[in-house]
Amino acid sequence: DRITVKAPATVANMGPGYDVFGLAVRRPFDRVTVKKSSETEITINGVGSGDIPTDPEHNTAGVVAQKMLPDQSVHIELHKGIPPGSGLGSSAASAAATAVAINKLFNLNHTTNELINIAAQGEEVAAGETHSDNVGPAITGGFCTIKPNNNQINQITPKPFKITLVIPEHTSKTREARKQIPRKITLNQAKQNIYHASLITQGIIEGDIEKIGQGMHDTIAEPIRAKTIPGYKNAKKQALKTGAHGCTISGSGPTTIAVGPNPKKIGKQIQKAYKQKNINSKLIITKPGKG
Ligand code: HSE
Repeated sequence: DRITVKAPATVANMGPGYDVFGLAVRRPFDRVTVKKSSETEITINGVGSGDIPTDPEHNTAGVVAQKMLPDQSVHIELHKGIPPGSGLGSSAASAAATAVAINKLFNLNHTTNELINIAAQGEEVAAGETHSDNVGPAITGGFCTIKPNNNQINQITPKPFKITLVIPEHTSKTREARKQIPRKITLNQAKQNIYHASLITQGIIEGDIEKIGQGMHDTIAEPIRAKTIPGYKNAKKQALKTGAHGCTISGSGPTTIAVGPNPKKIGKQIQKAYKQKNINSKLIITKPGKG
């Protein structure tokens, strides 16, 4: 009467695909154990667990449980591997894993799309509005495009390629980071983003990291967020200097993602740039992952 589900970190946006693109990675990940209980209760351990609310009403996993089981209770144990507030879909991973675990444990037979919708509602408590570019790929794995406002998901399993992730130690509040995004953009911004987003999709299909990297260029969210992440601008500059095909902000940041021929060297240069601003960081070399 218990079940454990693994949920991967996810890189939302990939640059130009604001709220539309998401990529699941192998590392880091969360593990969520759900068991039947007389009371809905959440216990959290692992990285950054002290920063996450345990009150079911304010916790993404708790909201998911209450939506799926209005008349029953569960004990949810979150083992956090994904640092909260890092831009790697930490809250989404917990929501997605809880939805999948409850679906299995109680034989609810929800479809993938239904599970994404439920997990997205859980995510809303962390982000302020629904967006499924983290919960989608956390459930399906691989690379996803998500239709805005309806959560229809299209998934591709990419050929493996190496991904550099640098996680600076400070955190970002998605809710605040989203408020700064412009509601109106110019025709040129739209053209630039459509071009670069298409390049990413093509690169993913072809397994061409040069195209994936070159596509990681955003004219809508990144210019604004770059200003609010100390050290990011220089980190990106150094990554490109070290041969990265592309470098951008993962989700609402501050995690920095880069793709290029020498992932470790690129990562070290990014870390150096953050260190110049007295910011410690963690380097992870990973690959596209399963849901
Ligand atoms: N697409 C979302 C954003 C992802 O950029 O705000 C947040 O993790």
